[in-house]
Amino acid sequence: MTHLTNLTLKIWRQSGPDDGGHFESYKVDEISDEASFLEMLDVLNERLINEGQEAVVFDHDCREGICGTCSLMIDGVAHGPQRGTATCQLHMRKFTSNVEIVVEPWRATGFPIIKDLMTDRAALDRIVEAGGYITAPTGGAPDANLIPVAKPVADAAMDAAECIGCGACVAACPNGAANLFTGAKITHLNLLPQGQAERFSRAEAMVEKMEEYFGSCTNHGECEAACPKSISIDVIALMNADYLKSKIKNRKSLSRT
Ligand code: FES
Repeated sequence: MTHLTNLTLKIWRQSGPDDGGHFESYKVDEISDEASFLEMLDVLNERLINEGQEAVVFDHDCREGICGTCSLMIDGVAHGPQRGTATCQLHMRKFTSNVEIVVEPWRATGFPIIKDLMTDRAALDRIVEAGGYITAPTGGAPDANLIPVAKPVADAAMDAAECIGCGACVAACPNGAANLFTGAKITHLNLLPQGQAERFSRAEAMVEKMEEYFGSCTNHGECEAACPKSISIDVIALMNADYLKSKIKNRKSLSRT
């Protein structure tokens, strides 16, 4: 284990949604290279509290890449310099001594800043609320293989289901689009037999809810690069295909009523 010394953290401080915000610089020293990025912020916060200053507000929960709560732009990159990694899994060994690290919140119109590095990502919940469910009966776990699912389909659905809803895709996108997130949430249900009953109403409702909050996708692909779960932009193509079909299928079902 070695220690990093003389780190300068340039951190975005913003007292609330209506404050303009500004950067403040803090020196941190003797940080173990085995510490996670969030643990390094904990060290800074402990010091700030001991000095009677306000701690830096940032989101975190599981600290093991599951919940999608951690959300920092580190040197302009969503979740920092290591691909396929959430901020909480990023270790200080990715940095060197005597450097400046710029830490900002997600920057997107759909994610208003609450305080410092914490943003309001409820818009993602609204998209899921619009259609991210199945009406298949729940209850006891069914026997394995009761509903046969082809291996490639199961794999593709599980890959999409890896989305942890952190919003890095939105933060990385020059348009602030949430197509990777919405595509992943739609795809993991729409590919499976259990998700067929609402397939097209789901695609229509979730895409249209997404458009209320977020920008439009123009295929930059930044979202795929920023995703801590390396979700492929293929899910966007699948979502677009289902959305287009929904416009025909849902219209037909309307004309029958
Ligand atoms: S804190 Fe849960 S994914 Fe990072």
